[in-house]
Amino acid sequence: MQTSFERDTLADVREFARSRKPGYALPRSFYTSPAVFDHDIKSFWNNSWIWVGHVSQIPEPGNFFRFDYCAESIIVVRDRQGTVHAHVNVCRHRGSRVCLEQSGKTSVLSCPYHAWTYDLDGRLRTDRAMNEQFSRADYSLFAASLRIFQGLIFVCLSDNPPDFSPALARLEPLTTPFGFENLKVAHAASYPVPANWKLAQENYLECYHCAPAHKEYSRSHSLKDPASMTEELLSALAKNSCRAGLPGTALNETGQDAENTGCDIYYRRYPLYPGYSTGSRSGDPVAPQLGELKQYDGGATDVMIGPLNSFLVYADYAVGFRFVPMTLQETDIQIVWMVRDDAVEGRDYSLEDLVWLWDVTSRDDERIIRFNQQGVNSIAFKPGPLSSMEWGIEAFYHGYLSRFLE
Ligand code: FES
Ligand SMILES: [Fe+2]
Repeated sequence: MQTSFERDTLADVREFARSRKPGYALPRSFYTSPAVFDHDIKSFWNNSWIWVGHVSQIPEPGNFFRFDYCAESIIVVRDRQGTVHAHVNVCRHRGSRVCLEQSGKTSVLSCPYHAWTYDLDGRLRTDRAMNEQFSRADYSLFAASLRIFQGLIFVCLSDNPPDFSPALARLEPLTTPFGFENLKVAHAASYPVPANWKLAQENYLECYHCAPAHKEYSRSHSLKDPASMTEELLSALAKNSCRAGLPGTALNETGQDAENTGCDIYYRRYPLYPGYSTGSRSGDPVAPQLGELKQYDGGATDVMIGPLNSFLVYADYAVGFRFVPMTLQETDIQIVWMVRDDAVEGRDYSLEDLVWLWDVTSRDDERIIRFNQQGVNSIAFKPGPLSSMEWGIEAFYHGYLSRFLE
């Protein structure tokens, strides 16, 4: 059996990116070629803003957490003055990982190999028995770029990251009522999947699969079927959202409508079905209202900040999604549940009720993404046409493929 795209050199992939007919899935090499994966990390991940956490995870000086993808590892830490830093987790001596714990509190960052010790701001503080000419000032930890938007922490390994300030300025008034800066992480979970990261990313960007694959989600979310998003449902949401204190505006600057490569931004609130105040099993709220909201309006907001970072925001909780590449066909689906920071577990929310929907939905996703990769690995795979409900994938391809043309 012949397929139209057998070889997997970068030159072939570049040629494909140049001459691609929009509206089709990508050829197999994008999901099977080590060279493409290497390019994905170097050109796309290392040059994109990645959402790694929330300021509430590091409330005090010395608090830190680590974020890893592929071969990279970044330490996010609050220094003695309260400033948040992102350091590359690579010792300036002979390259060992410096920070081994996932999160914690420390007064210094100490390398486990030969005990070079760094201040929280990244400066080398003590070395051991180096010669007199050695200048500590030249051996600070490498800094990653860092940006905090409404309490959400983004990092980028590039010294010249995409400038998404103008896009964030347009998003800011839309997300302000949710009070993102006053959230806390209630729960985080990983769903490792034996698939290339793009299959996980693409899966999140379309709801064409929601009706057949997500029984629980589809009971409550009208996004599963555009025909079910009736005028009646939309105008009821518009009224309720307005009463709740949410702007009715939508924002879609993705794909070719993004201001710059890597600056995709999206905001859209859509209706849940009648009887659902939020994404929960019973339809009842699972946590206190976020931010300044005055009522549960029966809606859900899709937010995208940069091409890699997606959030789903209900009136009472927010979920963050990351599809983190580890190897060519190993991806960590990372899901983070956030509630307002003064909510107390057991009193204001039950963790079980809070995580139910996106736990069961993420398990479904893990399964369909795994099967997707298995089929894509077959010599018989030939990319088929995208549905109009998969417009988000087309927008993603636009930015993603542009990295092959630079
Ligand atoms: S590699 Fe870190 S002190 Fe030697
Ligand atoms: Fe899904």
